[in-house]
Amino acid sequence: APEPLSATGRRPQDGSGPVRAQDGAYLTNAQGTRLPDSDHSLKAGPRGPVLLQDHHLREKITHFDHERIPERVVHARGAAAHGVFESYGTGAGLSKAGFLAAGVRTPVFVRFSTVLGSRGSADTVRDTRGFATKFYTDEGVFDLVGNNIPVFFIQDAIKFPDVIHAGKPHPDREIPQAQSAHDTFWDFVSLHTEATHHTLWNMSDRGIPRSYRTMEGFGIHTFRLIAPDGSTSLVKWHWKPKLGVHSLTWDEAQLIGGADPDFHRRDLYDAIEAGAFPHWELGVQVMPDTPEQTFEGIDLLDPTKIVPEELVPVQPLGLMTLNANPTNFFAEVEQVAFHPGHLVPGIDITDDPLLSGRLFSYLDTQITRLGGPNFAQIPINRTHAPVNDMLRDGFHQDAVHTGVAPYKPNSLDGGCPFFAGADEHAFIEHPQPVPESRKVREAPASFDDHYSQARLFWLSMTPVEQEHIINAYSFELGKCTEPAVRERNLRVLARIDARLCAEVATGLGLPAPAPDGDLADPDPSPALSQLGREWPVA
Ligand code: HEM
Repeated sequence: APEPLSATGRRPQDGSGPVRAQDGAYLTNAQGTRLPDSDHSLKAGPRGPVLLQDHHLREKITHFDHERIPERVVHARGAAAHGVFESYGTGAGLSKAGFLAAGVRTPVFVRFSTVLGSRGSADTVRDTRGFATKFYTDEGVFDLVGNNIPVFFIQDAIKFPDVIHAGKPHPDREIPQAQSAHDTFWDFVSLHTEATHHTLWNMSDRGIPRSYRTMEGFGIHTFRLIAPDGSTSLVKWHWKPKLGVHSLTWDEAQLIGGADPDFHRRDLYDAIEAGAFPHWELGVQVMPDTPEQTFEGIDLLDPTKIVPEELVPVQPLGLMTLNANPTNFFAEVEQVAFHPGHLVPGIDITDDPLLSGRLFSYLDTQITRLGGPNFAQIPINRTHAPVNDMLRDGFHQDAVHTGVAPYKPNSLDGGCPFFAGADEHAFIEHPQPVPESRKVREAPASFDDHYSQARLFWLSMTPVEQEHIINAYSFELGKCTEPAVRERNLRVLARIDARLCAEVATGLGLPAPAPDGDLADPDPSPALSQLGREWPVA
């Protein structure tokens, strides 16, 4: 029976509630007209020509023709799950964000991904992994859009198209670099040596995680927290998996990639279905918010640098549990839209130039990927806080706005929304002083150190982990066809460690070159050199 009319004279399905697409006992077309048959086109006789007037045929095929949306330009391959974040309350003195108050439970949606592969690529390739979390807080959406490696390839977002073009399949053959020619990636990272630290992490076992459930996550950039009393601190975000950090060996990754390219996706789904819910602890390293925005000589605005946990331990803030799989992959995993600028009161950005570019890029790409500016209305992206904006119309507008005055100030719509002003629940940008007023296209001198932290990482590895790194470089550089690219990379390795360089050179059948530049490059952070070797080197 037809739905009864509501008091406003409209049917319940009037755009104000969820879209109802699977109601009723009969198959219908998109207009709700019942269909007797969906298997045969309308024809002029059983053996005659198909008729253009068959609306059902045209609707069915046209809709099918438009089922695909563009895949993400990066991080196209992913899997996701729903869950909950429960705050310990330990962050309440650091940030006024409501979801960090003691005992607050906040729904979350987490998408894990590889970076370079296309939507149908294998899970087990050597790559960085995305670890993006959407917190549906009472004060709006907070997105923590991080990776499983704590540093990034570049220090300025203007180089992002370059590093991705260098890493994506070669334009002539479209053969993914994971399987074939490697020249462009290795060309780039040896010419842009700020990539050295991230590349070394990629060549370590961190580049081939065993499971999404056993990955750490990092916000990478330094963020600024604003406490209830207005004081601020600089922080780095960390996710620590309760199952510990585990990787595949290279041989395992190769075999599994052939036998089960969906290995990580399946693992996450099956674990959650079986009730083995994965947990991560969210934590922060907290550094003082000084005018220099450095800590022990480490530039906190440089995303190629970590702050060692020996110097600043991670303070736990709460526990995340992933406890439900998506119902529909497209609706949730494909349509979710994360953005590093989705912030809540108490959490603000810093002037890391990589982060600044990201603030522009995600919204821009999502307007194309999700078909216009209204993707915040897609169920998986909807905030759980009330929305009262002045955004109107546009492709895929599902809201039926009322009133005549979508502008402010106005005197015509009686219930015109008011500004929160200094309300503690309003997002107020921290009034951070701008250090310089001279326009320049240059990086600070503190961004010039490209090796000291790579060396620190190398020296913190166990002998077996170092062997894996040597094997990874030997294998990957062995795929480069350009001798000059291989040699330039060996010179980069010589800047990290002479033995690393020598052993990779041996693996390639080449002499170990002398390093480029002055090997004794000044260590900008004396504190780092205090961190001795954790393991004896064989
Ligand atoms: C997507 C992380 C740098 C542009 C992603 C995703 C993650 C991520 C996790 C996947 C989100 C999802 O699952 O839907 C990071 C991290 C970075 C970084 C940790 C550095 C610290 C950049 C930069 C740019 C950029 C510098 C551009 C200037 C993009 C774009 C997407 C994306 C365009 C696709 C977004 C979409 O289609 O929804 N990034 N990224 N990223 N990233 Fe980044």
